[in-house]
Amino acid sequence: MDAAPAFPYHLPMPQSNPDCIRAPLSALQWLVEAGADEAVGDEPVNRFNHASVRSGPELLEAGASPLPLRPSAARPKNLPAQPVTPAASDGDQIGRAMEIAAACGTLAELKAALEAFEGCPLKKHATRTVFADGVPDRRILFIGEAPGREEDIAGLPFVGRAGKLLDRMLASIGLDRKSNVYITNILNWRPPSNRDPTPEEAAVCLPFLRRHIELAAPRIIVLLGAIASRHVMGRSEGIMRLRGSWLEYFVCGRMVPVMPTLHPAYLLRRPLEKRLAWRDLQAISVKIQALALLEQSAESG
Ligand code: URA
Repeated sequence: MDAAPAFPYHLPMPQSNPDCIRAPLSALQWLVEAGADEAVGDEPVNRFNHASVRSGPELLEAGASPLPLRPSAARPKNLPAQPVTPAASDGDQIGRAMEIAAACGTLAELKAALEAFEGCPLKKHATRTVFADGVPDRRILFIGEAPGREEDIAGLPFVGRAGKLLDRMLASIGLDRKSNVYITNILNWRPPSNRDPTPEEAAVCLPFLRRHIELAAPRIIVLLGAIASRHVMGRSEGIMRLRGSWLEYFVCGRMVPVMPTLHPAYLLRRPLEKRLAWRDLQAISVKIQALALLEQSAESG
């Protein structure tokens, strides 16, 4: 069949043809714009080598699923059966996310459920599911926006430049993720090219986040940036208007104070605003002391 070339890969490539140079470049640019901006394997894989690609029917005959589950997709017990095929479009993924999240009774189960969940389109582009970092015991929860490149590779939130700044911000009020802070994000998968999440992508992650908050049972929540504030609190004001004042979030019938503040990535771009973040950190520190969160035994709260 003489189909018209649909993509620069298919342009003729004689050595004298300048397209020979332009085609791979435009293909590369297209990939970068689509978010495929890093190599994730040690060895390159030639996906045009048809001999190495097993066909769908062959897979089905062998009894395998057409799309493999990720290696880390251990499913916790008592979860509703999951379809193997990812399909944001084939039904009510938000409803499924709610059902699955509600069935999780521990943070470990929730993590495994997220790793097995195929209903968020972002997961198709991501390398790892990014669940959380730190210790939940002290009930101090920081919520950011979404994993970036480094987080996607490491499978942990806030490990890149913004994460380093967050660590310094925490240290300035005697906190650190190894001993007393728990950190997660609104989204568990990196959006391509670090773009803002679409409302649909956020909506399908939100049931997991809400359950995450219930299971972590924080006594104080810090929201990093406008997107976290919008999705956790449903507030559409800009972060400059929201930051610095306490809001309230109810977790299992208990009121939890919530402080929206500036995102460390924003502070990297606008270092002068660090003075505002510092004020918020001091208010957070005073609240932690008032709630005696650093003095309590690990199990209390
Ligand atoms: N920014 C975020 O909001 N979260 C991360 O994990 C990293 C950067």
